[in-house]
Amino acid sequence: MLTTVIMGAGVAGRELHHRSLRRVRPDQPVVFVDPVPQQDVPWVPDFDAFTERNRPSDAVVHICTPTPTHVPILGELIERGVRRFVLEKPIASSSAELDLLGNWVAEVPDLTILPMAVWPYSAAVQTARDFVRLTLAGSDGDGLVLHMAQEKFRRVDSTRNRGGTTSAFDVELPHQALLARHLLGPVDEVEEAECWPAPWAAHDPSSGGARLRLRHRNGAVSHLSTDLAAAERRRHIRLTAGTGTRWCEVGLPLSRDRPWSRVRRNGMPQLRYDDRPIDAFLDHAYGAFEERAGLTSPTVPFDHHIDAADLILTVRAAARRIRGADDARTVLHDTPSPG
Ligand SMILES: NC(=O)c1ccc[n+]([C@@H]2O[C@H](COP(=O)([O-])OP(=O)(O)OC[C@H]3O[C@@H](n4cnc5c(N)ncnc54)[C@H](O)[C@@H]3O)[C@@H](O)[C@H]2O)c1
Repeated sequence: MLTTVIMGAGVAGRELHHRSLRRVRPDQPVVFVDPVPQQDVPWVPDFDAFTERNRPSDAVVHICTPTPTHVPILGELIERGVRRFVLEKPIASSSAELDLLGNWVAEVPDLTILPMAVWPYSAAVQTARDFVRLTLAGSDGDGLVLHMAQEKFRRVDSTRNRGGTTSAFDVELPHQALLARHLLGPVDEVEEAECWPAPWAAHDPSSGGARLRLRHRNGAVSHLSTDLAAAERRRHIRLTAGTGTRWCEVGLPLSRDRPWSRVRRNGMPQLRYDDRPIDAFLDHAYGAFEERAGLTSPTVPFDHHIDAADLILTVRAAARRIRGADDARTVLHDTPSPG
């Protein structure tokens, strides 16, 4: 039987991956690897200690360590014979790392790396997918517009450098760029990219938030915005088509403790879903690792993850630095109201 190794027993490792695995694979053996001792779960201080009793080839390793360590740890464990990975976002910290990742996936025999795909596994996002499919069935993407906002107050986590980053390009935007790529296809042009510092970190240019406008190859446009100094949490998608009379709006689950979503669509009653996208992703991932028939094709292919990560690395280098958050926030909240 496969054994799960969760590298990094922080918020992602313990609160997201472990909790979720307990629901979707209650009998799955799990060991945490973290230099910091853990009290109430099976724990070893490093991967050497794990291999004293287990073969690397029988492990599924979840990389939930701080962002700059993802690719170095992955490289070391591939060398040691691990072949199954779940990889947290951002999947790479530089273009060189992204190239390495692509090369490993292309060249290392039997290697499966499944980067976390959260929103594509949301039950509510199926409605957005259908909306896009129906729109594109009748025309190209001209007039198809996605607005997506993810907002929260990250002061405490940013001050502690949780996850190894304080940049808005690492926190919510990787999820947003992946969903935009997933729904609307490849991006041909970054029409606008701006970032700004948080009020508590004036020296840190992208600690407060960022905003992107993207033109997809099919003509569709995405507006992605994230505000890490917002008073309230918001995870919201709005798609419009044509002159705006056709629309679809999704309120994504606001946190791991509020696992429900809602969908509104022109002319239809509001729908609510119990929605745990990380459970759905991990269930699918373990199906692929166990090679169960019919479950092996990923909802999000690896090259879409590479596209989205590459986009974020490009815009974070090129984004216009806005000095204050206030102007940006006026724009952020100026998204269309429900029709
Ligand atoms: N998918 C999501 O929604 C989501 C949510 C939160 C975080 N994340 C990602 O997960 C990663 C971790 O974030 P977090 O918030 O859990 O961070 P965190 O700071 O809470 O935890 C990181 C943990 O990794 C441990 N660690 C550091 N180096 C290690 C090593 N070499 N080997 C093993 N363990 C090591 C630390 O001791 C700590 O316990 C980040 O890349 C972040 O972007 C993703």
